[in-house]
Amino acid sequence: MLAIAILAAGKGTRMNSNLPKVLHPLAGKTLIERVLSCTKRLKPNRQLIIVGHKALEIKHFLKNSPKLEFVHQEPQNGTGHAIQQLLPKLKDFKGELLVLNGDVPLLTETTLKKLIDFHRKSESSVTFLSATLRNADGYGRVFTDKNGHVTNIIEDCECNEIQRKNKLTNAGIYCYNWQNLRDVLELLSNNNSQNEIYLTDTISILPKALHYEVDDPQEVSGINNRYQLSECEAYIQKQLKSYWMNKGVSFTDPASCTLSEGSSFGIDVIIEPQTHIQGNCIIGNRCHLGPGSVITNSTLGDGILAIHSYINGAKIGDETSIGPFAHIRPESTIFKGSKIGNFVEIKKSSIGKNTKINHLSYVGDSTLGNNVNIGAGTITANFDGKNKHKTIIGDNSKTGANSVLVAPITIGSHVTVGAGSTISKDIPDKTLVVERSKAILRNKRIIK
Ligand code: UD1
Ligand code: CA
Repeated sequence: MLAIAILAAGKGTRMNSNLPKVLHPLAGKTLIERVLSCTKRLKPNRQLIIVGHKALEIKHFLKNSPKLEFVHQEPQNGTGHAIQQLLPKLKDFKGELLVLNGDVPLLTETTLKKLIDFHRKSESSVTFLSATLRNADGYGRVFTDKNGHVTNIIEDCECNEIQRKNKLTNAGIYCYNWQNLRDVLELLSNNNSQNEIYLTDTISILPKALHYEVDDPQEVSGINNRYQLSECEAYIQKQLKSYWMNKGVSFTDPASCTLSEGSSFGIDVIIEPQTHIQGNCIIGNRCHLGPGSVITNSTLGDGILAIHSYINGAKIGDETSIGPFAHIRPESTIFKGSKIGNFVEIKKSSIGKNTKINHLSYVGDSTLGNNVNIGAGTITANFDGKNKHKTIIGDNSKTGANSVLVAPITIGSHVTVGAGSTISKDIPDKTLVVERSKAILRNKRIIK
């Protein structure tokens, strides 16, 4: 039997944040989601998460995670105190308890499996992951005897200068034999510089403690402050980009771009500098994105060009061209072959095939047909101060420069709206409509 306990009750003081530490994101996925997605694959019999500081926020965030048991720790008196809270919950449990700090987001399932296997074969009371770090600041140091058994772990802040030179560190991931741990949990004290009950003190009390050193120390980096958060982000970004480069994506300046874990790409995609792909995006083949584009939760077909543009929550059809400087907002669909040009904003609208909105327009709550041509400066006036209204434009219609279409309004197909018109009633098919006051000429001068 395997139970997993994730420690997420701490204050995360060193983050200086109102957001609980485990809810900080890395490549668009929170620390806790990363830890959970790796433990889920171990198929534990029980999965417990210890919450305390900002417990409600964490519980709310994880409300859809199945089979997660929340355990409250109040007050937060240290990692050992956190595990003491499991005693009533796991009273009758028999088997291994895998304990993970909630702030170790780069951990892999493979490493956890190796730890559990090693532990089961060794018949020790506890085996934990260790790493040799060049910069071991903030980590507990691991001390062993001549047989390689761990004698104790000393926290960084309790180490003397000689002890601090030991770079073998505790990663904060432990596989315990639960019955052995249960018997010693109550023996822990808070007799240390932080007045906290340390889980690491169990190591010197338990009869046989072993450590299992990870191959890649990066994998067990703990996040205690924003510098470490940024280092982990850089590590994940590097991995993501090299993964997609191998799959056929080119970056002209990879260091200036970021990707999210939830995004996927076709082949022959070119990503120019300062371009960011966020949330869950599906990007087709031959797209040319950036420079300077931000694409969030959107689906792009093949052969799309998107320069200096924001695309959020949209669906973009094949061979369309977006930007420079376009803003496509949520619930918009742009069909194949369309062109959304400079300084155009599209919101909650459907834009038909081969339609062109080339310059300086706002199109909101609208449905445009195929082959529509929207002249420079055309605005759909969709808001009456209280409600939003719809604009419908049929196939093959054109609006002249600076037209204002006052919604709700339906413009038929093959309609031409003259430049500068403000149209506030429906226009039937095949109509030319012009609304314009006459210029008055006197002595060849315009009188104001
Ligand atoms: C801990 C280890 C240290 C190890 C390091 C690895 C202890 C005493 N020290 O130190 O040896 O090198 O992790 O990253 O365990 N938490 C609670 N309740 C509490 C306190 C903390 O649930 O009362 C949770 C935190 O939310 C966090 C985890 O435990 O997810 C670790 O706490 P943190 O304060 O970051 O421990 P470290 O000082 O990093
Ligand atoms: Ca930590």
